[in-house]
Amino acid sequence: MNPIVDKLNWRYATKKFDSSKKISKEDLETLLEAARLTASSYGLQPYEIYVIKDTDVRKNLRKASYNQPQITDASYLIVLANKPTFNETMIDDYIANIMAIRGVSKDDLEGFSQTMKSTLLDLPDAHKNTWTSNQAYIVLGNLMTIAAEMEIDTCPMEGFDKAQYNEILGLTDKGLNAAVVLAVGYRSSEDDTQNYPKVRYSKEQIITHI
Ligand SMILES: Cc1cc2nc3c(=O)[nH]c(=O)nc-3n(C[C@H](O)[C@H](O)[C@H](O)COP(=O)(O)O)c2cc1C
Repeated sequence: MNPIVDKLNWRYATKKFDSSKKISKEDLETLLEAARLTASSYGLQPYEIYVIKDTDVRKNLRKASYNQPQITDASYLIVLANKPTFNETMIDDYIANIMAIRGVSKDDLEGFSQTMKSTLLDLPDAHKNTWTSNQAYIVLGNLMTIAAEMEIDTCPMEGFDKAQYNEILGLTDKGLNAAVVLAVGYRSSEDDTQNYPKVRYSKEQIITHI
């Protein structure tokens, strides 16, 4: 099988990071570029990516994360923040970006713009939150896989209080919401979890070929 499968078996949701071992700036940049290049519905990227290194901020975030040690002990904490209250500005900004990057006219993009607006702007708030949060999770998956490929450890985390994160990081005022978190760094040799066999459904149980 392709060696990526070995990497995917190597990765695990790291419970105990080695706080003395930090990932390089270059590796961080690679991970963030992978995050930036992640696909999203329509290409809208309805999220922002916060990279938290600051020790004091992370102490506060740990308190809002059931005291999980990964929050303070990993090299970096990446908070994926979705845009739960987006309006037409988000779509207009995206159209302006396409015009600038691809050199196409606004008229040429009018149909695409209207399609996005008619599909998305009238969604109920809860649905907007779910949809933008779903997009942020694609970034999460991509980051975890790319990190594994680079033999960098991660822990995906939903075990935190979103309201407290939003307050600590000042997200709400920016129209953002902490969707999910990824702790990134290197595993501690004392983390027993790395030795546990993976628990997954068998192919027969989970995959259907038609
Ligand atoms: C979205 C998401 C949220 C998670 N939240 C936490 C968390 O808050 N704390 C934690 O220790 N593990 C968390 N996990 C890790 C899962 O428990 C773990 O990925 C799962 O048991 C499979 O094990 P493995 O990733 O080690 O293969 C989370 C995983 C995902 C994908």
